[in-house]
Amino acid sequence: MERELFQKTYGLIGQSPEIQEIIDIIQQVAPTDITVLITGESGTGKEVAAKAIHAASRRCQKPMVTVNCGAIPEGLIESELFGHEKGAFTSANDMRKGFFEIADGGTIFLDEIGEMPLATQVKLLRVLENGEYTRVGSSAPRKSDVRLITATNKTLEYEVQQKRFRSDLYFRLRSVNVHLPALRDRKEDIPALVEFYVREISEKNKLHFAGFTDDAAGLLMEYRWPGNIRELKNALESMLVLEKGRRMNAENVRKYLREQMPVVGERNLPVFTNKSVEQAERELIYRALLDLKSNIIEMKEMIDDKFHTNGDGEHDKQVLTMNEMERRMIQGALERNKGNRRLAARELHISERTLYRKIHDFGLE
Ligand SMILES: Nc1ncnc2c1ncn2[C@@H]1O[C@H](COP(=O)(O)OP(=O)(O)OP(=O)(O)O)[C@@H](O)[C@H]1O
Ligand SMILES: [Mg+2]
Repeated sequence: MERELFQKTYGLIGQSPEIQEIIDIIQQVAPTDITVLITGESGTGKEVAAKAIHAASRRCQKPMVTVNCGAIPEGLIESELFGHEKGAFTSANDMRKGFFEIADGGTIFLDEIGEMPLATQVKLLRVLENGEYTRVGSSAPRKSDVRLITATNKTLEYEVQQKRFRSDLYFRLRSVNVHLPALRDRKEDIPALVEFYVREISEKNKLHFAGFTDDAAGLLMEYRWPGNIRELKNALESMLVLEKGRRMNAENVRKYLREQMPVVGERNLPVFTNKSVEQAERELIYRALLDLKSNIIEMKEMIDDKFHTNGDGEHDKQVLTMNEMERRMIQGALERNKGNRRLAARELHISERTLYRKIHDFGLE
């Protein structure tokens, strides 16, 4: 398929040599059954790439089952993937098909593969090697005809070094590695992405966008985009909708960016720019210090609280306080993210699974 048509069909927008090469690799591997490992920071398009591989394959009429390995509790992941027999464990009242069985003939997309427990990794390796697996609670091997695509924003080499990921599985998975570079490393894609999403958002919201001034367009190019394409798309959506399609200058745009850093190299103002970078860094440090200070005050208040209201031994008080702090952090992250556990987990730098467990432990459901 022509590159352009492929991009339109599968929504993989971009003009950079990097994205062009990715499309070439996807086109080459899609018709085969080769396992593909997709890597890249959050928001770079790993899921888009996985869907394109499936859609361009001979399996496209069969399902693609997406499994987020980080969101399933450790004890359940095996039965979710491979199914279980009736009575295999206490709550197994019925036989249940696993994702490998449901995806038969199609594709299984294991997202956040770096979160897969070691014990499950062994079983996955076995399916990859001879297509065989067993349901939990059964010893009868079953055959699976499934194409595997995996993705992670972790560095799996590092996970292997840390003995959290099996090296044999890692080598198996990365037979083809599609790496999606961060948006800041392929800035040529920004104009095409902006054009694509401006059109999509305008149509969806029935508004006419009056466009960006030159300095606003420059800012979109210079900004670091820590949240990559997801952040760009969300920022454009907020800008267009909330500003009702009004023409945007750099100052207007800056309000919608996640990081409030000034732009390095903003045209015509080299001296002022340097100064403002320093100033902004100072501001950032100052803000971090203020945050830290208020955290310390809060902690101090909590500890004081405990000491005055709790008559238990010294050691107990401290343990309680730590737990309480953790509970509050989790509650705060959940509130800030309006109950969205995925975002809350990201903010706390823990996996969704860990967050689920803690929510449960702290009775925050
Ligand atoms: N090349 C692209 N062209 C157009 N849209 C894209 C492209 N890449 C990503 N997007 C859009 O950006 C958003 C994030 O993409 P996606 O969910 O695939 O990222 P991801 O790498 O899986 O992120 P995470 O690691 O957080 O799961 C989606 O809305 C997707 O449609
Ligand atoms: Mg994803």
